Amino acid sequence: MAIPRETVEQILQASRIEEVVGEFVTLKKRGSNMWGNCPFHNEKTPSFSVNPARNIFKCFGCGKAGDSAKFLMEHEHFTYPEALRYLAKKYNIKIEEKEQTAEEIMQQSIREKMFNINEFADKYFVDTLWNTDEGKTIGLQYFRERGYLNPIIEKFHLGYSPAKWDAFTEYAKKNGYSDELLEQIGFSIKGQKGLYDRYHGRVMFPIHSLTGRVIGFGGRILVNDKKSPKYQNSPESEIYDKKQTLYGIYFAKNAIAKQDECILVEGYFDVLRMHQIGIENVVASSGTSLTMEQIRLVKRYTKNITMLYDGDAAGVHAALRGTDMILSEGMNVRVVVLPPEHDPDTFAKEFSVEYVTNYLKDNAKDFVRFKTELLLKDAQNDPIKRGQVIRDIVETISVIPDSIFRITYVKECSRLLDMPEQTLTNELNKMLRAKLKKTLGIEENVVTETDTTTTPKQDETVEDQLPAGYYQERELVKLLLMYGREMIVDERKDEEDQLVYEQVSVAQFIIDDLKNDGCLFLDPVNRKVFDLIDRAIDEGNIPDDQFFVSNEDEAIAQLAADLLSSPYKLDQWARHNIFVLSEEDNLRNTVMSSLLRYKDLIIEDRRKAIEEELKTTEELDNQLILLKRKKDLDDIRMRINKELGIVIAK
Ligand code: GTP
Ligand code: MN
Repeated sequence: MAIPRETVEQILQASRIEEVVGEFVTLKKRGSNMWGNCPFHNEKTPSFSVNPARNIFKCFGCGKAGDSAKFLMEHEHFTYPEALRYLAKKYNIKIEEKEQTAEEIMQQSIREKMFNINEFADKYFVDTLWNTDEGKTIGLQYFRERGYLNPIIEKFHLGYSPAKWDAFTEYAKKNGYSDELLEQIGFSIKGQKGLYDRYHGRVMFPIHSLTGRVIGFGGRILVNDKKSPKYQNSPESEIYDKKQTLYGIYFAKNAIAKQDECILVEGYFDVLRMHQIGIENVVASSGTSLTMEQIRLVKRYTKNITMLYDGDAAGVHAALRGTDMILSEGMNVRVVVLPPEHDPDTFAKEFSVEYVTNYLKDNAKDFVRFKTELLLKDAQNDPIKRGQVIRDIVETISVIPDSIFRITYVKECSRLLDMPEQTLTNELNKMLRAKLKKTLGIEENVVTETDTTTTPKQDETVEDQLPAGYYQERELVKLLLMYGREMIVDERKDEEDQLVYEQVSVAQFIIDDLKNDGCLFLDPVNRKVFDLIDRAIDEGNIPDDQFFVSNEDEAIAQLAADLLSSPYKLDQWARHNIFVLSEEDNLRNTVMSSLLRYKDLIIEDRRKAIEEELKTTEELDNQLILLKRKKDLDDIRMRINKELGIVIAK
């Protein structure tokens, strides 16, 4: 249920980052910050800092940063509402649940009814398996023949649904469940002679949510019957969303977090078998291709996914699906292919746990390598196919968010493909630039083969090719976040050319100045911050840094935590030759010089564009217009540089 906005603010305001983190990490005060060993990566010397004044944490080793809620989400794998409830409890804040609408109450009661009937059915199928003759001789016998032992059958609540056409439907109806609900959640199907059981004569697998409630079922047929599908699964419902579900996650989540790895298999039985031999960090995608939601579910516990697939061709190609998605979430994917005659179930049945563990260790290939080798085998000596393979691989590499990993993969592929590294880098940069332009909302120019201006220089990385103003933009955003509410003195000339002084907020000063010169931020996240503050000024209420650090927009929250954390980013700026004054000492000068430098760069960009245009403009009139515009820009630049000189000299 939703927590009211005001309560969320109240909770976040009451939370003290040093107290929240302090429950999990030993912190020592050093300077104005507190330091400890980072709980998110292994380290011996503390690089994890807590800033009580700004109410945020940041690790300079692994880069994680944020407010109290973010810390709990990362550390305890809480969802956002869970983190808020934890904090509310810690700080004795009562959460008044929002008044529900009639429709919400209806929805809620449907969900409750569904959970209720699932629990009822779960008990029935389990009871039938263990305590009826039919269940024991058919269902239990089936599990036994396949080599499954009692502990695993009990743990996963495996069950049996009788062969009689409407056994469960009848039983449920006798216990007060309506035809409508039975159909809706999928236990019963309407036939010519009334409702009959979807799962009759099948062994049953309840599907559990993350918190262990039964949200659906899968039922496996026991006879080879060409007319019925091997599995019948629950249809989607108010409580069962297939794209958000992974079979076994409830039983696997602790092991996944502890081992910092999630093994992904395809089938129910694969999960059971791995658990039975003691490998518990295993979940199944249940035969469909992986979704983004499933990947994010795993990401709450680990960044490492190992895909374990059948050795046959279908298994191998299943492994190819969905993996670009995992990579684009910044996760590490490895693939293990089993011997051709095996699936994880038969493999783990035949060999010992040591053998299986070692096999996984020895045969796990990182995904890029796996894909390269596989595609190369297909392409063999066909040069056209080879070209396609290269583009395909580079495309895969281009979705990886971390540039260091990308470089590593380029090196590896260059070896595997027997191709110069530079060729791959060029191809990669082309794709990355196209993507970057798309996210920045810049129209992409058509790149032709003869267009030499778009070929990147030898050792240029894409990060260096970010728009010139990018780092300056970040500096201005940082000033907005840190000092937006502070007042500075603005000096300007009035109508009679007299110097007047007035107090304005830093936020107003920066926003007005940029708007006057038509220099709006290019980066979409920076731009969102700009718009938020712009609107807030109109409403006479400039938000403080906590508003951004705890922002519901995750990109804004991340940016704020990064920018507010440290001199770390300032070092970056120093690398890009940006002069940074001591901010606390001389706020006004810092604001002025940052603005001027930013505008200077934007103008230089525009000037360059005009010069390019001049090269291709033949007509004299047009040339003159362009020259005039260039002169105007030069004048502004001179003015800016003069002002900049004054500001810095002061
Ligand atoms: P066994 O063949 O008994 O070992 O089952 P399995 O769990 O290993 O299944 P398999 O590897 O054949 O398929 C993987 C997963 O795909 C299953 O666990 C099901 O979730 C799903 N699946 C397989 N066959 C069907 C089907 O006929 N219908 C539906 N809806 N899902 C299926
Ligand atoms: Mn199987």
